[in-house]
Amino acid sequence: MNIIIANDHGAVDLKTGLVKALRAKGHTVENLGVDSADSVDYPDIARLAADRFLAGGFDFGILCCGTGIGISMAANKIHGIRCAQVFDLFTAEMSKAHNDANFIAFGGRIVYAIPVIDMVEKFMSAAYEAGRHARRVGKIDAMR
Ligand code: RB5
Repeated sequence: MNIIIANDHGAVDLKTGLVKALRAKGHTVENLGVDSADSVDYPDIARLAADRFLAGGFDFGILCCGTGIGISMAANKIHGIRCAQVFDLFTAEMSKAHNDANFIAFGGRIVYAIPVIDMVEKFMSAAYEAGRHARRVGKIDAMR
Protein backbone atom coordinates (compact mmCIF):
# COMPACT_ATOMS: atom_id res chain seq x y z
CA MET A 1 0.00 0.00 0.00
CA ASN A 2 0.96 3.63 -0.39
CA ILE A 3 0.91 5.17 3.06
CA ILE A 4 1.49 8.67 4.34
CA ILE A 5 2.74 9.11 7.90
CA ALA A 6 3.28 12.22 9.96
CA ASN A 7 4.07 13.01 13.59
CA ASP A 8 5.05 15.69 16.02
CA HIS A 9 7.89 15.54 18.53
CA GLY A 10 5.78 13.42 20.88
CA ALA A 11 5.87 10.39 18.62
CA VAL A 12 9.22 10.24 16.84
CA ASP A 13 10.11 6.76 18.06
CA LEU A 14 6.64 5.39 17.30
CA LYS A 15 6.70 6.86 13.81
CA THR A 16 10.23 5.60 13.14
CA GLY A 17 9.28 2.09 14.17
CA LEU A 18 6.15 2.10 12.03
CA VAL A 19 7.99 3.37 8.97
CA LYS A 20 10.62 0.67 9.37
CA ALA A 21 8.08 -2.11 9.90
CA LEU A 22 5.80 -1.05 7.04
CA ARG A 23 8.68 -0.67 4.57
CA ALA A 24 10.02 -4.07 5.61
CA LYS A 25 6.63 -5.50 4.65
CA GLY A 26 6.89 -3.93 1.20
CA HIS A 27 4.70 -0.88 1.66
CA THR A 28 5.59 2.56 0.35
CA VAL A 29 5.68 5.09 3.16
CA GLU A 30 6.06 8.84 2.79
CA ASN A 31 7.31 10.38 6.02
CA LEU A 32 6.06 13.93 6.51
CA GLY A 33 6.69 13.97 10.24
CA VAL A 34 9.53 15.32 12.29
CA ASP A 35 12.56 13.24 13.21
CA SER A 36 13.82 15.18 16.21
CA ALA A 37 12.62 16.09 19.68
CA ASP A 38 12.39 19.78 18.74
CA SER A 39 8.91 21.03 19.55
CA VAL A 40 6.46 21.55 16.71
CA ASP A 41 2.71 22.18 16.61
CA TYR A 42 0.59 19.13 15.76
CA PRO A 43 -2.08 21.12 13.87
CA ASP A 44 0.60 22.11 11.35
CA ILE A 45 1.60 18.46 10.94
CA ALA A 46 -2.02 17.37 10.50
CA ARG A 47 -2.55 20.06 7.85
CA LEU A 48 0.57 19.03 5.97
CA ALA A 49 -0.39 15.35 5.91
CA ALA A 50 -4.04 16.00 5.08
CA ASP A 51 -3.22 18.29 2.17
CA ARG A 52 -0.75 15.75 0.79
CA PHE A 53 -3.28 12.93 1.16
CA LEU A 54 -6.10 14.90 -0.47
CA ALA A 55 -3.84 15.63 -3.44
CA GLY A 56 -4.18 11.92 -4.19
CA GLY A 57 -2.11 8.81 -4.60
CA PHE A 58 -2.26 7.39 -1.07
CA ASP A 59 -4.31 4.54 0.34
CA PHE A 60 -4.45 5.98 3.85
CA GLY A 61 -2.49 7.93 6.40
CA ILE A 62 -1.16 7.52 9.91
CA LEU A 63 -0.93 10.46 12.31
CA CYS A 64 0.95 10.35 15.59
CA CYS A 65 1.41 12.83 18.41
CA GLY A 66 1.92 12.34 22.12
CA THR A 67 -1.58 11.07 22.68
CA GLY A 68 -3.02 10.83 19.18
CA ILE A 69 -5.72 13.21 20.38
CA GLY A 70 -4.61 16.63 19.20
CA ILE A 71 -3.42 15.56 15.79
CA SER A 72 -6.64 13.61 15.10
CA MET A 73 -8.77 16.54 16.28
CA ALA A 74 -6.91 18.83 13.89
CA ALA A 75 -7.10 16.38 10.99
CA ASN A 76 -10.84 15.93 11.43
CA LYS A 77 -11.35 19.66 10.95
CA ILE A 78 -10.22 19.25 7.35
CA HIS A 79 -12.96 18.44 4.88
CA GLY A 80 -12.50 14.96 3.42
CA ILE A 81 -10.44 13.61 6.29
CA ARG A 82 -11.89 10.92 8.55
CA CYS A 83 -9.27 10.23 11.20
CA ALA A 84 -9.89 7.54 13.80
CA GLN A 85 -8.04 7.11 17.05
CA VAL A 86 -7.39 3.41 17.30
CA PHE A 87 -6.74 1.59 20.56
CA ASP A 88 -7.02 -2.11 19.83
CA LEU A 89 -7.76 -4.60 17.05
CA PHE A 90 -11.51 -3.99 17.28
CA THR A 91 -11.29 -0.23 16.81
CA ALA A 92 -8.70 -0.78 14.07
CA GLU A 93 -11.13 -2.99 12.15
CA MET A 94 -14.26 -0.94 12.81
CA SER A 95 -12.65 2.33 11.84
CA LYS A 96 -12.34 0.93 8.32
CA ALA A 97 -15.40 -1.36 8.18
CA HIS A 98 -17.96 1.13 9.49
CA ASN A 99 -16.34 4.57 9.28
CA ASP A 100 -14.18 4.26 6.17
CA ALA A 101 -11.42 6.11 8.00
CA ASN A 102 -8.72 7.44 5.73
CA PHE A 103 -6.38 8.25 8.61
CA ILE A 104 -5.69 6.40 11.83
CA ALA A 105 -4.03 8.03 14.82
CA PHE A 106 -1.83 6.82 17.64
CA GLY A 107 -0.03 8.28 20.63
CA GLY A 108 3.70 7.99 21.07
CA ARG A 109 3.32 8.43 24.83
CA ILE A 110 0.61 5.80 25.21
CA VAL A 111 1.44 2.32 26.45
CA TYR A 112 -0.77 0.14 24.25
CA ALA A 113 -1.68 -3.41 25.15
CA ILE A 114 -0.62 -4.64 21.72
CA PRO A 115 1.96 -3.43 19.19
CA VAL A 116 0.77 -0.49 17.10
CA ILE A 117 1.91 -2.24 13.91
CA ASP A 118 -0.65 -5.00 14.65
CA MET A 119 -3.42 -2.42 14.76
CA VAL A 120 -2.19 -0.82 11.54
CA GLU A 121 -2.18 -4.21 9.83
CA LYS A 122 -5.68 -4.98 11.08
CA PHE A 123 -6.86 -1.67 9.62
CA MET A 124 -5.15 -2.45 6.31
CA SER A 125 -6.72 -5.88 6.05
CA ALA A 126 -10.23 -4.69 6.90
CA ALA A 127 -12.77 -3.77 4.23
CA TYR A 128 -15.26 -0.92 4.25
CA GLU A 129 -18.73 -2.45 4.45
CA ALA A 130 -20.55 0.52 2.87
CA GLY A 131 -24.32 -0.29 2.85
CA ARG A 132 -26.00 1.50 5.77
CA HIS A 133 -22.62 2.87 6.78
CA ALA A 134 -22.33 4.79 3.50
CA ARG A 135 -25.30 6.94 4.49
CA ARG A 136 -23.66 7.80 7.80
CA VAL A 137 -20.23 8.42 6.35
CA GLY A 138 -21.90 10.59 3.73
CA LYS A 139 -23.44 12.67 6.50
CA ILE A 140 -20.02 13.12 8.07
CA ASP A 141 -18.61 14.24 4.75
CA ALA A 142 -21.47 16.69 4.25
CA MET A 143 -20.60 18.48 7.51
CA ARG A 144 -18.80 21.79 7.27
C1 RB5 B 1 2.92 17.86 22.57
O1 RB5 B 1 3.56 18.12 23.78
C2 RB5 B 1 1.61 17.15 22.82
O2 RB5 B 1 0.69 18.02 23.35
C3 RB5 B 1 1.08 16.54 21.54
O3 RB5 B 1 2.01 15.63 21.04
C4 RB5 B 1 -0.22 15.77 21.64
O4 RB5 B 1 -0.17 14.84 22.68
C5 RB5 B 1 -1.43 16.58 21.70
O5 RB5 B 1 -2.58 16.08 21.62
